[in-house]
Amino acid sequence: MKGIFPIDKFRTLQTPFYYYDTKVLRDTLSAINHEVAKYPNYSVHYAVKANANPKVLAIIRESGMGADCVSGGEIRAAIRAGFPANKVVFAGVGKADWEINLGLEYGIFCFNVESIPELEVINELAAAQNKIANVAFRINPDVGAHTHANITTGLAENKFGISMQDMDKVIDVALGMKNIKFIGLHFHIGSQILDMGDFVALCNRVNELQDKLEAHRILVEHINVGGGLGIDYGHPNRQAIPNFKDYFATYAGQLKLRPYQTLHFELGRAVVGQCGTLISKVLYVKQGAKKKFAILDAGMTDLIRPALYQAYHKMENLTSEEPMEAYDVVGPICESSDVFGKAIDLNKVKRGDLIALRSAGAYGEIMASGYNCRELPKGYTSDELV
Ligand code: LLP
Repeated sequence: MKGIFPIDKFRTLQTPFYYYDTKVLRDTLSAINHEVAKYPNYSVHYAVKANANPKVLAIIRESGMGADCVSGGEIRAAIRAGFPANKVVFAGVGKADWEINLGLEYGIFCFNVESIPELEVINELAAAQNKIANVAFRINPDVGAHTHANITTGLAENKFGISMQDMDKVIDVALGMKNIKFIGLHFHIGSQILDMGDFVALCNRVNELQDKLEAHRILVEHINVGGGLGIDYGHPNRQAIPNFKDYFATYAGQLKLRPYQTLHFELGRAVVGQCGTLISKVLYVKQGAKKKFAILDAGMTDLIRPALYQAYHKMENLTSEEPMEAYDVVGPICESSDVFGKAIDLNKVKRGDLIALRSAGAYGEIMASGYNCRELPKGYTSDELV
């Protein structure tokens, strides 16, 4: 495993930093395109929130995907990376006026709308620009997902979407608006989902809703089922490419797509998760009263997932072949939750060793913060470090 990293190059760079293996990223994108090609009316938008590093975005754009954005900043990042505006969708529960205006100015494909007040604002702003805004409604399908509570989104108690009971009313309001064109329904039940049964539950709900709408003679061109496909964080030999075959086949088998409809997906983690690694250096090895700590120069400011969701990222000592010992691997931040893992087996650690935190390409660099006045980590691709 260690052989895949340019360790001599790493030693010349200031740690911590993110390292993106572009072969893994390109292989992942090809695997997605290979599966999607089987279904002529499927299309994938990359969820920019997972990773907006410009070098990563450029590679994803080359693959032909669209972009799923949740802020004006993400729309700008996507356009700057060359995503065509007509392949950009704009979602999010709280869109500011300037962000809506930006989307309208670029002529993006669609706004995923989450409430009537938001719809009214989009209608008004579109009228002021003399434009028609395409909208899809994000429906909260009240479907649970077997994942961490902080990243389930499709339950009735969550803030996201329009409830199923309100759906007809919202559609009626939209159909009466002059500067709104109602084109689709949007769903998203959560993230890091590995149980295909959760997606089946979503498909069943979408089928029910579609039947109900058709009974009212309401037809929609686009169904967007969001993202959520999980990745393998833990196994000793992590599966680098997620199981896209089963994922798309589940939708093909379960969702009753009408022949005139397109099905949209918004994958984030499954696209970029496995290509990214956080590389950090050991500052100190400290023998505590009960255990040994490996203190890294990377902390929760660089990779917050362990602190926020008790997430596990596989760790490896890239510069030691000595026998394994157990360490609590921690960062330098003044918070007790700044812990990457407890009792982690690593090849014997000494000051200066390079530690890799794997599967960190999604929600890693992009969620970094400057807390404790720390510098944001840089991101390098394997293409740059050859
Ligand atoms: N579409 C919508 C409407 C979303 O809210 C999300 C993610 C996605 C698509 C992309 O989901 P993905 O394919 O990446 O699962 N920071 C958390 C994950 C938050 C996900 C938020 N929404 C983490 O590090 O696990």
